[in-house]
Amino acid sequence: MELRSLVLNFCAVAAMLPCLSVKSAATFQPGAVWPDQRGQHIQAHGGGILKVGDTFYWFGEDRSQTNQRGRRYVACYASTNLAQWTFRNQVVKQADPENLGRGWILERPKVFYNAPTKKFVLYAHIDNGRYNFASVAVFTCDTVDGDYQYLKSFRPLGHESRDIGQFIDDDGAAYLIFEDRPFGFRIAKLSADYLNVEKEMCLIPQHMEGGAVVHYDGLYYAIGSELTGWRANPNKYATAKSLAGPWSEFKDIAPPEKNTYGSQSTMLLKIAGTKTPRVIFMGDIWRPQTQWDSRYLWMPLEIGGGKLTLPEPREWTLDITTGETKIGK
Ligand code: GAL
Repeated sequence: MELRSLVLNFCAVAAMLPCLSVKSAATFQPGAVWPDQRGQHIQAHGGGILKVGDTFYWFGEDRSQTNQRGRRYVACYASTNLAQWTFRNQVVKQADPENLGRGWILERPKVFYNAPTKKFVLYAHIDNGRYNFASVAVFTCDTVDGDYQYLKSFRPLGHESRDIGQFIDDDGAAYLIFEDRPFGFRIAKLSADYLNVEKEMCLIPQHMEGGAVVHYDGLYYAIGSELTGWRANPNKYATAKSLAGPWSEFKDIAPPEKNTYGSQSTMLLKIAGTKTPRVIFMGDIWRPQTQWDSRYLWMPLEIGGGKLTLPEPREWTLDITTGETKIGK
């Protein structure tokens, strides 16, 4: 047996044995193939994470080569330590719902849980091949990893919307972040049932994709990338005391010549941690010609006091209980 398949088989078996998938084994290798419990590279590109109880669910674009051409797919994976993931379902296997034509797109899915209606609500960017439909699609489901049903598409608050991001504040309020090409980057509150985008919190007049927000130690940090398509660029951040702003100037999250180490932001994930809260940068390393092989760059951020830095990618470990991380040499 080849070394690669030996390793993949070992990972698959280890993930199935509860005694081996201990929490301390949470090791991350930015940029590497990331096998799920079946040994298949995770398909959750441009994704987001929802925590339900002790379980994290990772949703993202499923670009598997075996997918049907005319359909668009979202996959869902589950984990309790963020490193070892079990494939749960292709929660979306959608045929073109708005007659957008060949090359229609469904990108950057994000799932919210609405407690009052007990529904899981999935937002995604829906578009035609020319990217001028510029709308969000909404799907719902009664279970986190069931088959999501298409509900509708619309332009949030009447504005163009391409890349989207999600933000859930410490008080549980849910926000959609969306890139509005003529104006900039908007953060808007969802309606009580999460099926609509109801109230604009702010317009940051900066043109940014891959938008994400985190609330850390009394400050909001907004992050995003420049508009260079699949090509990496220097991602930037700004801070504000309130979501409504005023927001600071945007600064680089890493030396600009590194182009975010070849990645593009998709989410800032906060881990509560009994010892320390941690914020993880989740980014995509796109491979536009072989999208199914696009990689992930996750690293714990250096964050606080209004500063945010993405360290150079290296292997690292996370203790999901305490929030402690160790970055390799
Ligand atoms: C990127 C965007 C991706 C995808 C791509 C298409 O800027 O973040 O989600 O839309 O452009 O070129």
